[in-house]
Amino acid sequence: MATITFRNVAKSFDNGKFTVIPDLSLEIKDKEFVVLVGPSGCGKSTTLRMIAGLEDISGGELFIDEKVVNDIPPKDRDIAMVFQSYALYPHMTVYKNMAFALKLKKMPKKEIEEKVMWAAKILDLEPYLDRRPRALSGGQRQRVALGRAMVRNPKVFLLDEPLSNLDAKLRTEMRSQITMLHKKLQTTFVYVTHDQTEAMTMADRIVVMDKGVIQQFDTPQKLYNEPANMFVAGFIGSPQMNFFDARLENANGLKAKSVGFELEIPKSKAAFLSDYINKNIVLGIRPEHFISPDEAFEKGSCSLTVSAELAEMTGSETNIHFELDGKRHIARIKSDKKINRGDKIKLLVDPETVHFFDKETSLAI
Ligand SMILES: Nc1ncnc2c1ncn2[C@@H]1O[C@H](COP(=O)(O)OP(=O)(O)OP(=O)(O)O)[C@@H](O)[C@H]1O
Ligand SMILES: [Mg+2]
Repeated sequence: MATITFRNVAKSFDNGKFTVIPDLSLEIKDKEFVVLVGPSGCGKSTTLRMIAGLEDISGGELFIDEKVVNDIPPKDRDIAMVFQSYALYPHMTVYKNMAFALKLKKMPKKEIEEKVMWAAKILDLEPYLDRRPRALSGGQRQRVALGRAMVRNPKVFLLDEPLSNLDAKLRTEMRSQITMLHKKLQTTFVYVTHDQTEAMTMADRIVVMDKGVIQQFDTPQKLYNEPANMFVAGFIGSPQMNFFDARLENANGLKAKSVGFELEIPKSKAAFLSDYINKNIVLGIRPEHFISPDEAFEKGSCSLTVSAELAEMTGSETNIHFELDGKRHIARIKSDKKINRGDKIKLLVDPETVHFFDKETSLAI
Protein backbone atom coordinates (compact mmCIF):
# COMPACT_ATOMS: atom_id res chain seq x y z
CA MET A 1 0.00 0.00 0.00
CA ALA A 2 1.54 3.32 -1.01
CA THR A 3 -0.06 6.55 -2.06
CA ILE A 4 2.20 9.54 -2.71
CA THR A 5 0.85 13.01 -2.07
CA PHE A 6 2.54 16.32 -2.79
CA ARG A 7 0.83 19.16 -0.95
CA ASN A 8 2.05 22.58 -2.14
CA VAL A 9 5.58 21.29 -2.43
CA ALA A 10 8.23 23.80 -3.46
CA LYS A 11 11.84 23.18 -4.38
CA SER A 12 14.59 25.70 -4.84
CA PHE A 13 18.35 25.43 -4.95
CA ASP A 14 21.04 27.67 -3.45
CA ASN A 15 18.96 29.03 -0.58
CA GLY A 16 16.02 30.02 -2.72
CA LYS A 17 18.06 31.56 -5.54
CA PHE A 18 16.77 29.12 -8.18
CA THR A 19 13.18 27.97 -7.90
CA VAL A 20 12.71 24.77 -9.85
CA ILE A 21 9.29 23.80 -8.52
CA PRO A 22 7.16 26.69 -7.29
CA ASP A 23 4.06 24.92 -5.96
CA LEU A 24 3.32 21.30 -6.72
CA SER A 25 0.22 19.42 -5.62
CA LEU A 26 -0.25 15.88 -6.86
CA GLU A 27 -1.86 12.66 -5.67
CA ILE A 28 -0.54 9.33 -6.91
CA LYS A 29 -2.78 6.41 -6.04
CA ASP A 30 -1.78 3.08 -4.59
CA LYS A 31 -0.60 0.62 -7.30
CA GLU A 32 -0.78 3.29 -9.96
CA PHE A 33 1.75 3.57 -12.81
CA VAL A 34 2.35 7.30 -13.14
CA VAL A 35 4.68 8.75 -15.77
CA LEU A 36 6.24 12.22 -15.53
CA VAL A 37 6.98 13.83 -18.89
CA GLY A 38 8.13 17.26 -19.93
CA PRO A 39 11.01 19.05 -21.63
CA SER A 40 14.57 18.82 -20.36
CA GLY A 41 15.08 20.80 -17.16
CA CYS A 42 11.39 21.01 -16.23
CA GLY A 43 11.93 19.29 -12.87
CA LYS A 44 11.08 15.62 -13.48
CA SER A 45 14.18 14.13 -11.84
CA THR A 46 13.97 16.65 -9.00
CA THR A 47 10.39 15.55 -8.31
CA LEU A 48 11.42 11.89 -8.30
CA ARG A 49 14.43 12.57 -6.08
CA MET A 50 12.22 14.36 -3.57
CA ILE A 51 10.05 11.22 -3.32
CA ALA A 52 13.19 9.15 -2.80
CA GLY A 53 14.49 11.58 -0.19
CA LEU A 54 17.61 12.36 -2.22
CA GLU A 55 16.64 16.05 -2.39
CA ASP A 56 15.29 17.96 0.57
CA ILE A 57 12.04 19.86 0.20
CA SER A 58 12.00 23.65 0.41
CA GLY A 59 8.31 24.07 1.27
CA GLY A 60 5.03 22.19 1.62
CA GLU A 61 4.53 18.57 2.57
CA LEU A 62 5.21 15.24 0.94
CA PHE A 63 3.22 12.25 2.17
CA ILE A 64 3.81 8.56 1.61
CA ASP A 65 0.55 7.00 2.66
CA GLU A 66 -0.65 9.09 5.60
CA LYS A 67 2.81 9.97 6.82
CA VAL A 68 4.70 13.21 6.17
CA VAL A 69 8.14 12.15 4.98
CA ASN A 70 9.83 15.55 4.54
CA ASP A 71 12.40 14.65 7.20
CA ILE A 72 12.55 10.86 6.79
CA PRO A 73 15.92 9.70 5.37
CA PRO A 74 15.91 7.73 2.09
CA LYS A 75 16.72 4.39 3.70
CA ASP A 76 13.64 4.55 5.90
CA ARG A 77 11.20 5.36 3.09
CA ASP A 78 10.84 1.85 1.71
CA ILE A 79 11.42 3.04 -1.82
CA ALA A 80 13.65 1.72 -4.61
CA MET A 81 15.05 3.87 -7.38
CA VAL A 82 16.37 2.74 -10.76
CA PHE A 83 18.61 5.21 -12.55
CA GLN A 84 19.40 5.78 -16.22
CA SER A 85 23.01 4.81 -15.54
CA TYR A 86 21.98 1.54 -13.77
CA ALA A 87 24.69 2.21 -11.12
CA LEU A 88 25.63 -1.48 -10.77
CA TYR A 89 28.67 -2.53 -8.74
CA PRO A 90 31.19 -3.47 -11.46
CA HIS A 91 33.25 -5.87 -9.32
CA MET A 92 30.25 -7.92 -8.16
CA THR A 93 28.45 -10.67 -10.02
CA VAL A 94 24.82 -10.27 -11.03
CA TYR A 95 23.82 -12.39 -8.04
CA LYS A 96 25.83 -10.28 -5.61
CA ASN A 97 24.57 -7.05 -7.12
CA MET A 98 21.03 -8.15 -6.44
CA ALA A 99 21.78 -9.60 -3.01
CA PHE A 100 23.81 -6.65 -1.73
CA ALA A 101 21.09 -4.54 -0.13
CA LEU A 102 19.59 -7.60 1.56
CA LYS A 103 22.96 -8.60 2.96
CA LEU A 104 23.36 -5.13 4.43
CA LYS A 105 20.01 -5.64 6.11
CA LYS A 106 21.41 -8.87 7.58
CA MET A 107 18.73 -10.99 5.99
CA PRO A 108 19.36 -14.75 6.41
CA LYS A 109 21.27 -16.29 3.49
CA LYS A 110 18.48 -18.67 2.58
CA GLU A 111 15.95 -15.89 2.35
CA ILE A 112 18.31 -13.78 0.24
CA GLU A 113 18.73 -16.66 -2.16
CA GLU A 114 14.98 -17.12 -2.49
CA LYS A 115 14.46 -13.44 -3.25
CA VAL A 116 17.28 -13.19 -5.78
CA MET A 117 16.16 -16.35 -7.56
CA TRP A 118 12.59 -15.07 -7.64
CA ALA A 119 13.68 -11.80 -9.28
CA ALA A 120 16.10 -13.56 -11.63
CA LYS A 121 13.31 -15.82 -12.84
CA ILE A 122 10.87 -13.00 -13.51
CA LEU A 123 13.54 -10.96 -15.29
CA ASP A 124 15.06 -13.86 -17.24
CA LEU A 125 18.43 -13.39 -15.57
CA GLU A 126 19.01 -16.95 -14.36
CA PRO A 127 21.71 -17.75 -16.94
CA TYR A 128 23.75 -14.67 -16.02
CA LEU A 129 23.91 -14.80 -12.23
CA ASP A 130 27.67 -15.47 -12.14
CA ARG A 131 28.62 -12.80 -14.66
CA ARG A 132 29.89 -9.35 -13.93
CA PRO A 133 28.04 -6.31 -15.35
CA ARG A 134 30.67 -5.60 -18.02
CA ALA A 135 29.92 -8.99 -19.59
CA LEU A 136 26.23 -8.12 -20.03
CA SER A 137 24.33 -6.28 -22.75
CA GLY A 138 22.63 -2.97 -22.00
CA GLY A 139 19.24 -4.62 -21.64
CA GLN A 140 20.59 -7.29 -19.29
CA ARG A 141 22.25 -4.64 -17.13
CA GLN A 142 18.99 -2.75 -17.02
CA ARG A 143 17.23 -5.89 -15.82
CA VAL A 144 19.81 -6.38 -13.07
CA ALA A 145 19.14 -2.82 -11.92
CA LEU A 146 15.43 -3.63 -11.83
CA GLY A 147 16.12 -6.89 -10.00
CA ARG A 148 18.16 -5.12 -7.38
CA ALA A 149 15.17 -2.87 -6.73
CA MET A 150 12.67 -5.75 -6.77
CA VAL A 151 14.32 -7.94 -4.13
CA ARG A 152 13.91 -5.19 -1.58
CA ASN A 153 10.17 -5.46 -2.00
CA PRO A 154 9.70 -1.69 -1.89
CA LYS A 155 6.39 0.12 -1.49
CA VAL A 156 7.27 2.40 -4.39
CA PHE A 157 9.41 2.00 -7.52
CA LEU A 158 10.98 5.14 -8.90
CA LEU A 159 12.48 4.93 -12.38
CA ASP A 160 14.36 7.84 -13.97
CA GLU A 161 14.67 7.37 -17.74
CA PRO A 162 15.65 3.73 -17.27
CA LEU A 163 15.54 2.89 -20.98
CA SER A 164 17.27 5.86 -22.54
CA ASN A 165 20.61 4.04 -22.96
CA LEU A 166 19.07 1.19 -24.94
CA ASP A 167 18.60 0.91 -28.69
CA ALA A 168 15.12 1.29 -30.16
CA LYS A 169 14.29 -2.42 -30.37
CA LEU A 170 15.42 -3.22 -26.86
CA ARG A 171 13.60 -0.17 -25.56
CA THR A 172 10.31 -1.44 -26.95
CA GLU A 173 10.99 -4.87 -25.44
CA MET A 174 11.90 -3.52 -22.00
CA ARG A 175 8.90 -1.22 -22.09
CA SER A 176 6.51 -4.14 -22.14
CA GLN A 177 8.63 -6.01 -19.58
CA ILE A 178 8.38 -3.12 -17.13
CA THR A 179 4.64 -2.85 -17.71
CA MET A 180 4.26 -6.57 -16.98
CA LEU A 181 6.50 -6.26 -13.96
CA HIS A 182 4.22 -3.55 -12.60
CA LYS A 183 1.20 -5.81 -13.04
CA LYS A 184 3.00 -8.67 -11.29
CA LEU A 185 4.34 -6.67 -8.37
CA GLN A 186 1.20 -4.63 -7.75
CA THR A 187 3.06 -1.65 -6.33
CA THR A 188 3.14 2.04 -7.10
CA PHE A 189 5.48 3.02 -9.97
CA VAL A 190 6.62 6.54 -10.77
CA TYR A 191 8.48 6.69 -14.06
CA VAL A 192 10.28 9.61 -15.70
CA THR A 193 10.83 9.83 -19.44
CA HIS A 194 11.34 12.25 -22.33
CA ASP A 195 9.72 9.80 -24.65
CA GLN A 196 6.04 10.39 -25.13
CA THR A 197 5.47 6.98 -26.73
CA GLU A 198 6.82 5.41 -23.55
CA ALA A 199 4.53 7.64 -21.50
CA MET A 200 1.45 6.90 -23.61
CA THR A 201 1.95 3.12 -23.69
CA MET A 202 2.99 2.52 -20.09
CA ALA A 203 1.09 4.97 -17.92
CA ASP A 204 -2.17 4.68 -16.06
CA ARG A 205 -1.91 8.45 -15.76
CA ILE A 206 0.61 10.96 -17.08
CA VAL A 207 1.85 14.16 -15.45
CA VAL A 208 2.82 16.69 -18.12
CA MET A 209 5.18 19.25 -16.58
CA ASP A 210 6.62 22.50 -17.88
CA LYS A 211 8.96 24.72 -15.84
CA GLY A 212 8.10 22.88 -12.63
CA VAL A 213 4.36 23.37 -13.10
CA ILE A 214 1.89 20.57 -13.82
CA GLN A 215 0.10 21.34 -17.07
CA GLN A 216 -2.24 18.35 -16.91
CA PHE A 217 -2.48 15.09 -14.97
CA ASP A 218 -4.71 12.56 -16.64
CA THR A 219 -4.99 9.29 -18.56
CA PRO A 220 -3.18 8.98 -21.90
CA GLN A 221 -6.51 8.99 -23.77
CA LYS A 222 -7.70 12.16 -22.05
CA LEU A 223 -4.41 13.95 -22.74
CA TYR A 224 -4.65 13.04 -26.40
CA ASN A 225 -8.35 13.76 -26.86
CA GLU A 226 -8.81 16.68 -24.48
CA PRO A 227 -5.50 18.49 -23.94
CA ALA A 228 -5.98 21.29 -21.41
CA ASN A 229 -3.78 23.78 -23.25
CA MET A 230 -1.51 24.24 -26.24
CA PHE A 231 1.54 22.99 -24.37
CA VAL A 232 -0.03 19.60 -23.66
CA ALA A 233 -1.59 19.49 -27.13
CA GLY A 234 1.83 20.01 -28.68
CA PHE A 235 3.66 17.68 -26.35
CA ILE A 236 1.40 14.62 -26.58
CA GLY A 237 1.09 13.12 -30.07
CA SER A 238 3.68 12.49 -32.74
CA PRO A 239 4.21 14.18 -35.14
CA GLN A 240 2.97 17.03 -33.02
CA MET A 241 -0.33 18.88 -33.40
CA ASN A 242 -0.43 21.67 -35.99
CA PHE A 243 -1.54 25.11 -34.82
CA PHE A 244 -3.23 27.65 -37.11
CA ASP A 245 -4.11 31.23 -36.20
CA ALA A 246 -7.74 31.99 -37.05
CA ARG A 247 -10.48 34.51 -36.48
CA LEU A 248 -13.95 33.54 -35.41
CA GLU A 249 -16.75 35.15 -37.40
CA ASN A 250 -20.50 34.88 -37.41
CA ALA A 251 -21.79 35.07 -40.98
CA ASN A 252 -24.30 32.41 -41.97
CA GLY A 253 -23.20 30.42 -38.94
CA LEU A 254 -20.02 30.38 -36.92
CA LYS A 255 -16.83 30.09 -38.95
CA ALA A 256 -13.15 30.11 -38.13
CA LYS A 257 -11.24 31.90 -40.89
CA SER A 258 -7.61 31.02 -41.26
CA VAL A 259 -5.09 31.60 -44.03
CA GLY A 260 -5.96 29.24 -46.86
CA PHE A 261 -9.06 27.67 -45.34
CA GLU A 262 -12.27 28.28 -43.51
CA LEU A 263 -13.82 25.96 -40.96
CA GLU A 264 -17.47 25.67 -40.11
CA ILE A 265 -17.79 25.35 -36.34
CA PRO A 266 -19.63 22.18 -35.44
CA LYS A 267 -22.78 22.55 -33.33
CA SER A 268 -21.18 20.66 -30.47
CA LYS A 269 -18.55 23.39 -30.09
CA ALA A 270 -20.63 26.49 -30.91
CA ALA A 271 -21.75 27.23 -27.34
CA PHE A 272 -18.20 27.18 -26.00
CA LEU A 273 -16.96 29.48 -28.76
CA SER A 274 -19.70 32.11 -28.63
CA ASP A 275 -17.55 34.44 -26.47
CA TYR A 276 -14.85 34.46 -29.12
CA ILE A 277 -16.79 35.98 -32.04
CA ASN A 278 -14.60 38.56 -33.84
CA LYS A 279 -11.62 37.46 -31.80
CA ASN A 280 -8.45 35.58 -32.65
CA ILE A 281 -8.24 31.94 -31.70
CA VAL A 282 -5.91 29.06 -32.46
CA LEU A 283 -7.01 25.91 -34.25
CA GLY A 284 -5.24 22.66 -33.42
CA ILE A 285 -5.30 19.87 -36.00
CA ARG A 286 -3.42 16.63 -35.43
CA PRO A 287 -1.48 15.36 -38.48
CA GLU A 288 -3.47 12.11 -38.44
CA HIS A 289 -6.75 14.01 -38.58
CA PHE A 290 -6.18 15.36 -42.07
CA ILE A 291 -8.00 13.28 -44.65
CA SER A 292 -7.06 12.90 -48.27
CA PRO A 293 -9.88 13.05 -50.84
CA ASP A 294 -9.08 9.43 -51.71
CA GLU A 295 -10.63 8.51 -48.39
CA ALA A 296 -14.33 8.83 -47.54
CA PHE A 297 -15.52 12.42 -47.87
CA GLU A 298 -17.50 13.49 -44.84
CA LYS A 299 -20.24 16.05 -45.21
CA GLY A 300 -19.23 19.38 -43.69
CA SER A 301 -15.52 18.73 -44.00
CA CYS A 302 -13.47 21.78 -44.79
CA SER A 303 -10.71 21.62 -47.34
CA LEU A 304 -7.40 23.27 -48.02
CA THR A 305 -4.92 22.85 -50.81
CA VAL A 306 -1.28 22.80 -49.91
CA SER A 307 1.99 22.41 -51.70
CA ALA A 308 4.03 19.42 -50.52
CA GLU A 309 7.51 20.46 -49.42
CA LEU A 310 8.48 16.99 -48.40
CA ALA A 311 6.63 13.69 -48.43
CA GLU A 312 7.78 10.90 -46.12
CA MET A 313 6.35 7.54 -46.95
CA THR A 314 6.03 5.43 -43.78
CA GLY A 315 4.38 2.37 -45.26
CA SER A 316 0.62 2.72 -45.48
CA GLU A 317 0.77 6.40 -44.60
CA THR A 318 2.56 9.47 -45.88
CA ASN A 319 3.66 12.50 -43.87
CA ILE A 320 3.26 15.58 -45.99
CA HIS A 321 5.16 18.65 -44.83
CA PHE A 322 3.73 21.96 -45.96
CA GLU A 323 3.93 25.65 -45.13
CA LEU A 324 0.97 27.88 -44.44
CA ASP A 325 0.91 31.41 -43.03
CA GLY A 326 4.69 31.23 -42.55
CA LYS A 327 4.57 28.14 -40.35
CA ARG A 328 5.49 24.53 -41.03
CA HIS A 329 2.88 21.83 -40.68
CA ILE A 330 2.55 18.10 -41.19
CA ALA A 331 -0.41 16.11 -42.49
CA ARG A 332 -0.40 12.33 -42.24
CA ILE A 333 -2.65 10.78 -44.84
CA LYS A 334 -3.33 7.33 -46.11
CA SER A 335 -1.94 7.24 -49.58
CA ASP A 336 -0.21 4.73 -51.76
CA LYS A 337 0.46 7.25 -54.52
CA LYS A 338 3.91 8.68 -54.86
CA ILE A 339 3.90 12.33 -53.85
CA ASN A 340 6.60 14.62 -55.15
CA ARG A 341 7.95 17.90 -53.88
CA GLY A 342 5.80 20.76 -55.16
CA ASP A 343 2.72 18.59 -55.77
CA LYS A 344 -0.54 20.30 -54.90
CA ILE A 345 -2.41 18.22 -52.34
CA LYS A 346 -5.98 18.66 -51.28
CA LEU A 347 -6.55 17.98 -47.61
CA LEU A 348 -9.88 17.64 -45.85
CA VAL A 349 -10.62 18.28 -42.20
CA ASP A 350 -13.55 17.01 -40.19
CA PRO A 351 -14.39 19.99 -37.92
CA GLU A 352 -15.31 17.59 -35.10
CA THR A 353 -11.63 16.63 -34.78
CA VAL A 354 -10.36 20.20 -34.50
CA HIS A 355 -9.17 21.59 -31.13
CA PHE A 356 -9.78 25.25 -30.25
CA PHE A 357 -7.53 27.36 -28.04
CA ASP A 358 -7.66 30.83 -26.54
CA LYS A 359 -4.85 32.75 -28.22
CA GLU A 360 -4.12 34.86 -25.13
CA THR A 361 -4.07 32.16 -22.44
CA SER A 362 -3.36 29.14 -24.70
CA LEU A 363 -6.04 27.25 -22.76
CA ALA A 364 -8.39 24.88 -24.56
CA ILE A 365 -11.83 26.33 -25.29
N1 LIG B 1 21.88 20.92 -7.45
C1 LIG B 1 21.31 21.82 -8.24
N2 LIG B 1 21.58 23.15 -8.13
C2 LIG B 1 21.00 24.08 -8.92
N3 LIG B 1 20.08 23.77 -9.87
C3 LIG B 1 19.77 22.48 -10.03
C4 LIG B 1 20.35 21.44 -9.24
N4 LIG B 1 19.82 20.26 -9.64
C5 LIG B 1 18.97 20.56 -10.64
N5 LIG B 1 18.92 21.89 -10.88
C6 LIG B 1 18.10 22.58 -11.89
O1 LIG B 1 16.76 22.21 -11.70
C7 LIG B 1 16.07 22.14 -12.94
C8 LIG B 1 15.34 20.83 -13.03
O2 LIG B 1 16.26 19.77 -13.12
P1 LIG B 1 15.82 18.27 -13.31
O3 LIG B 1 17.04 17.44 -13.28
O4 LIG B 1 14.75 17.96 -12.33
O5 LIG B 1 15.20 18.31 -14.77
P2 LIG B 1 14.60 17.12 -15.65
O6 LIG B 1 13.19 17.48 -15.96
O7 LIG B 1 14.85 15.83 -15.00
O8 LIG B 1 15.47 17.28 -16.99
P3 LIG B 1 16.08 16.13 -17.97
O9 LIG B 1 14.95 15.71 -18.81
O10 LIG B 1 17.11 16.89 -18.74
O11 LIG B 1 16.65 15.04 -17.10
C9 LIG B 1 17.12 22.35 -14.01
O12 LIG B 1 17.01 23.67 -14.48
C10 LIG B 1 18.43 22.15 -13.28
O13 LIG B 1 19.44 22.93 -13.84
MG1 LIG C 1 16.10 14.19 -15.46
